[in-house]
Amino acid sequence: MQARVALVTGGTGGIGSSILLKLASMGHKVATNYRDEGKARAWQTAMKAAGVDVALAHGDVSSAESAESMVRDLERQLGPIDILVNNAGITRDTTFHKMTPTQWNDVIATNLGSCYNVTRPVIEGMRERKWGRIIQISSINGQKGQYGQANYAAAKAGMHGFTISLAQENARFGITVNTVSPGYIGTDMVMAVPEEVRNKIVAQIPTGRLGTPEEIAYAVSFFIPDEAAWITGANLSANGGQYMGW
Ligand code: CAA
Ligand code: NAP
Repeated sequence: MQARVALVTGGTGGIGSSILLKLASMGHKVATNYRDEGKARAWQTAMKAAGVDVALAHGDVSSAESAESMVRDLERQLGPIDILVNNAGITRDTTFHKMTPTQWNDVIATNLGSCYNVTRPVIEGMRERKWGRIIQISSINGQKGQYGQANYAAAKAGMHGFTISLAQENARFGITVNTVSPGYIGTDMVMAVPEEVRNKIVAQIPTGRLGTPEEIAYAVSFFIPDEAAWITGANLSANGGQYMGW
């Protein structure tokens, strides 16, 4: 297929790095954001050693101004963005009766607010060019809820509501909008869960293990080719069988 320009937010993280490698292996030009330039340049050098050039721009996805200037910077470097993966995300786990306004607001702004902040500056160009792919990285916990994650589950469920509305508005412009809902993947985010709690979670996964970032990158790649043009508004679970709800 034609080479496209792809922006994966939070690309320096575990799942984001794998998505970037996968999209690059499909022949696309790839880009992401950073907040800490020193950390990001070291990561960029490691990605280059793995054979992939990743364009970088400063950007905080929880801010509309910052996200817009990040998009414009990357477009100057690579050209218009055809593929957007809204992947950047955080957790601030605690039971709801202890949750502070900051823990609520930060998770909603970073996981859900980011969908507005980053998609808004790319959507008009996609509509003009009559082609686009927008993929939200939600979570199994947006589908089933999770003890200690009222903030995160609300944001992740909201991401799929965003997907199915955008999918309807943009289908006739050649743009598909889909969600990937990963289960527990062995990145920093999951390794931050206390070991005892994590072991109990792994015991509930039918495959008997955590997923890998590469398994999520594969799920994302499924939505990109021209052959996937009929698939829009879908929510693809990739969770080792931990949750099989519709
Ligand atoms: N079901 C029922 N009870 C539970 C429970 C569960 N899943 N988890 C904890 N509890 C109970 C404890 O047994 C304890 O009970 P007792 O008071 O009777 O002993 C009580 O809840 C503890 O409640 P606290 O309010 O004191 O909570 P805490 O400060 O100990 O922390 C927690 C609780 C933060 C939720 C902690 O259990 C935790 O980190 N859980 C993991 C949450 C999780 O899955 N996060 C996913 C992070 S990765 C990610 O988000 C990626 C993704 O998308 C999959
Ligand atoms: P990760 O390794 O912690 O990576 C998160 C990435 O998001 C980092 O690059 C981080 O950049 C970036 N980020 C966080 N806040 C940001 C902000 N305000 N602005 C810009 N970038 C920001 O996490 P991961 O496991 O790869 O998770 C990636 C996505 O998958 C998240 O949306 C997560 O919720 C979702 N997910 C993960 C799992 C899992 O089991 N790991 C399961 C389901 C869904 P910094 O380095 O600057 O912080």
